[in-house]
Amino acid sequence: MSTAAIHAGWRAEDAHRAVNPPIYATSAYAHPDHDSLKDLFARRTEGYAYSRSGNPTTAVLEERISALEGGTDAIAVASGQAAVTIALCALLAPGTHVVASQRLYGGTTEFLDDTLADLGVRTTVVDPWDLDALAGAIEEDTRAVLVESIANPGGELVDLPAIARIAHERDVPVVVDSTLASPALYRPGDHGADVVVHSATKYLAGHGTTLAGLIVDTGRFDPRRCPERWPRLTTRNARFGVTFAREYEHGRSGLLAFARAKYMTDFGATLPASSAQQVLLGIETLDLRMRAISSTARTLAERLDAEPGVLRVNHPQLPHREDRAIAERDFPLGTAGVFSVDLPAGEAGARAFTDALELWTIAVNIGDVRSLVCHPGTTTHSHLTEAQRGICGVTPGTVRLSAGLEDLEDLWTDLQRGLAAVRRLAPEVTAAASAATETAAV
Ligand SMILES: Cc1ncc(COP(=O)(O)O)c(C=O)c1O
Repeated sequence: MSTAAIHAGWRAEDAHRAVNPPIYATSAYAHPDHDSLKDLFARRTEGYAYSRSGNPTTAVLEERISALEGGTDAIAVASGQAAVTIALCALLAPGTHVVASQRLYGGTTEFLDDTLADLGVRTTVVDPWDLDALAGAIEEDTRAVLVESIANPGGELVDLPAIARIAHERDVPVVVDSTLASPALYRPGDHGADVVVHSATKYLAGHGTTLAGLIVDTGRFDPRRCPERWPRLTTRNARFGVTFAREYEHGRSGLLAFARAKYMTDFGATLPASSAQQVLLGIETLDLRMRAISSTARTLAERLDAEPGVLRVNHPQLPHREDRAIAERDFPLGTAGVFSVDLPAGEAGARAFTDALELWTIAVNIGDVRSLVCHPGTTTHSHLTEAQRGICGVTPGTVRLSAGLEDLEDLWTDLQRGLAAVRRLAPEVTAAASAATETAAV
């Protein structure tokens, strides 16, 4: 992992033997003659014409993430949201259906409920821990099952091998948003995923500087197995003059060649070359960062869990968690830095807590080297219904924490400052919660 994170996709063999991949800040590429561009547009040769659909710096990132995920193909796009959108649009033609986890990033839920519905795709939402419900939700028209490897903000994990078995029995590919895990902690392809998406804005870039998204084909999905289910891949595309599942079959499904040709061109959600370079730089230290961040988050979660007055700590490695066995089986290096706490006195408790913090930054991002905190109920999950928020484990008193790389004791001292503010605000509530915790312990 750490070797591929530094070397995959680039060798210092360009004209100047640059150690780092150069940033190709160019919109278009000069060609020697008329026929060179003509052949490229006719797909008789490969190369670059215009940076909306491909750039040499971005190509290094694509090769690197593909190597890290053990995939066969990848495309880089402008944001995680664009990655989710393009991956799902490539699989879900109008009139088809997707089975989606009830615990997804709020932006993804909104995309499914609103824009994807506008495009004629139906969604059934299920609890991914209820495998019977998941199996029952798959229909004849289902073309994808969508889950997150670690959900946000409560860090819920999924039993991906079991989910993939159910989906694959019905020839349905599994799409995994693995933003919170990153390939340093978990490779969904090793557990049965067909397509992996990332918001590289988070841990992959790692420093809160850049928006980016990635889509990886793990090489498991083969549309030629049931060609009638995937006509957009297995029959000749009149617009591009190719059959994607045939021309691009070399260990690949043709899905991402299709996505690049159609959706990257039409949506124009291109990743700038300078952003690709920022993500490449972040990936170089991903392995080290993820181990340190996971360890810090686990320790903080354990300490908060023992703290009187905290109603609940949501972290998959805590003893009370239903998915702890999955953490032990599939996440030997840890479960990343995002977890949440439920505080007494609802939003007022959350406000008192976050406003008292001096080191943790109030911001709606995760996966930064800086520790970040936010109130999901009024920010990331505010457009969802109360019922949807409840299902995602977001109560009025829920605060999301994204641990960074600062000193553990400095972070803990700051959290204690926050807890003291909650105690001052709601002494009776915290005393009652503390008594309840002691009774439970007895
Ligand atoms: C799990 C997950 N997927 C996708 C996204 C969207 O990514 P971006 O903000 O890079 O568009 C996010 C953003 O928070 C996320 O947490």
